[in-house]
Amino acid sequence: MYRVLFVDHAQALGGAEYSLLLLFEHLNREQFEPFLVCNPSPLAERARQLGVQVIEITMPRLRKNVLAPALLGRGAYRLAKVIREKRIDLVQSNVMRASFYAALAAWLTGVPLLWHVRDLYTPGVYVSWMARVARAAVAISRAVKEPLPATLPCYVIPNGVDLSLFRVPKTESETLRRSWGVPEDGALVGFLGRLRKWKGPEDFIRAMALVQARYPAARFVLVGGTVFANGGDYEEELKTLARGLGLGDKLFFAGYRRDVPQVLAALDLLVHCSVVPEPFGRVIIEAMAAGLPVVAYNHGGPSEIILHQETGLLVPPRDVRSLAEAVGLLLGRPEWARALGRAGRRRVEQCYEIRALTRRLEEVFVQVIEAERESR
Ligand code: UDP
Ligand code: GLC
Repeated sequence: MYRVLFVDHAQALGGAEYSLLLLFEHLNREQFEPFLVCNPSPLAERARQLGVQVIEITMPRLRKNVLAPALLGRGAYRLAKVIREKRIDLVQSNVMRASFYAALAAWLTGVPLLWHVRDLYTPGVYVSWMARVARAAVAISRAVKEPLPATLPCYVIPNGVDLSLFRVPKTESETLRRSWGVPEDGALVGFLGRLRKWKGPEDFIRAMALVQARYPAARFVLVGGTVFANGGDYEEELKTLARGLGLGDKLFFAGYRRDVPQVLAALDLLVHCSVVPEPFGRVIIEAMAAGLPVVAYNHGGPSEIILHQETGLLVPPRDVRSLAEAVGLLLGRPEWARALGRAGRRRVEQCYEIRALTRRLEEVFVQVIEAERESR
């Protein structure tokens, strides 16, 4: 039995945490015993429900904090204690802040560290340091792997989805469409993601203002909240922008939803328009699992996931006009749009199915642990 400790500090659930929860759910428990160190959070609760041993250790923010060295030292010391007591074979770090604590604790205990890279970094002090302390890395896309030093063994293993969750009865999606005021003959175009500037909700709104001029029956929905707190009044700002562009009664702000498969089943297509390259973009594989075509900015993870004109359309980043044209093209050819959606679902079955991807991660876990044992 291999004992693997996962480390994630997040106070709210983002893509990194949903990916980790799916891994917990599908991990082969006959071979692996999973432990999670995290802050007290919804992640802790959800992981416990999945039978993971959770140890809560506060991992405070380190950036712009004069007490950072002391806080890091204390957190890492506690983490090291857990590693020794639970006789951990491998430490995985799931997100950036947690990686500081995990790396220091792994170094203190001599247990190998696997760096799960879920962000697009520029080469610099952090990347060089992590590349030195980690025994190996898992990158969620080729884009994420690119800036990492070639000296670090790095496996590209994308995030996955559980396809069985994306079969939703038609009555449920129809109820949602009615509640959002979508007319019988109208198409519904959606944006799904945290309401943060870099996720591009403003580009979505500006593009949809152009689309509605040509397709007056179309409706639009912006799904997502200001999770990770620091969103402030951004949603209000977005509503003002939408009203100013004449989208007042056509764009619905649905807030943060827990029923993402139902939400996706209600859409005709998904738009993904992060204004800086998205490291991966779980929402895209989820939309494809739901059989939707995806229109996205052509950079980062989305460029690898979406096959242009096969499962969706890729347009030049930050080009609102092209984004609107691509959406218009699919609204004008609904048969083609549906065919792209079906091809998207097949692509998810082939490349992003959670069970197959979990097996690949497990192989990496074993490889790193066994290499460590041999080197002793
Ligand atoms: N999500 C959700 N409800 C919402 C908006 C998003 O459950 O209202 C989920 C979404 O289904 C996805 C995750 O949050 O699994 C976001 O992951 P992604 O990788 O797209 O972006 P991140 O937020 O991690 O940058
Ligand atoms: C990060 C990235 C997102 C990715 C997620 C899961 O939150 O922003 O693109 O999908 O991690 O790995």
